[in-house]
Amino acid sequence: MSGVLGEMVADRLVPVVVLESAADARPLGDTLATGGIRVAEVTLRSDAGIESIRALADLPDFLVGAGTVINAEQVDRAVDAGARFIVSPGLLPEVVLRAQELGVTVVPGTVTPSEIMQALSFGLDTLKFFPASIYGGATAIKALGAPFPQVRFIPTGGVSAGNLTEYLALPNVVAVGGSWMVSPALIRAGRFDEIARLSREAGDAVRAADEDRS
Ligand code: 3PG
Repeated sequence: MSGVLGEMVADRLVPVVVLESAADARPLGDTLATGGIRVAEVTLRSDAGIESIRALADLPDFLVGAGTVINAEQVDRAVDAGARFIVSPGLLPEVVLRAQELGVTVVPGTVTPSEIMQALSFGLDTLKFFPASIYGGATAIKALGAPFPQVRFIPTGGVSAGNLTEYLALPNVVAVGGSWMVSPALIRAGRFDEIARLSREAGDAVRAADEDRS
């Protein structure tokens, strides 16, 4: 995998971040980087999302994208703020098309065969699978691999250091995402030490999962 998508999944881990204050963005980015994670999906579900993306966009050796993007206008604002990729919880044509018009990597959320087929019709084959734990988890992703061998998934929703191995063991899972190492409660409390620890633990769990696979 090359380009921004390749960078996004390089560490097989995409933290999903909800920032309530843009002032926390840079310290959080530094903390993730210290913990070995060089990517963040900053969600637009909080008012501080756009300014947080702007604050992270020029962090060296770090890739920032926007998550929870649910309309085309948010695509514009996120890209203007420096988002290098767009993630959506579902598949909305206007979101995909605007990102493609702007030449920005887009990863829509899909769970059903029909949604996956629609994503394929837009030329997309790396897709978010959300909320993973509710829609059948690793068992569902494995089953979807039969009709869709060309599709690679990034499951999020209920993923943690304790269960990421079951996802990363699948050949059609390129990375997992989630908020467990960057919970809003930890950020609010300024517990960057704990975020660094959880990030390192997550990285260790990914490496252990990849060793098991090889
Ligand atoms: C997302 O947008 O991907 C999810 O909110 C992440 O789910 P989690 O909080 O269960 O990790």
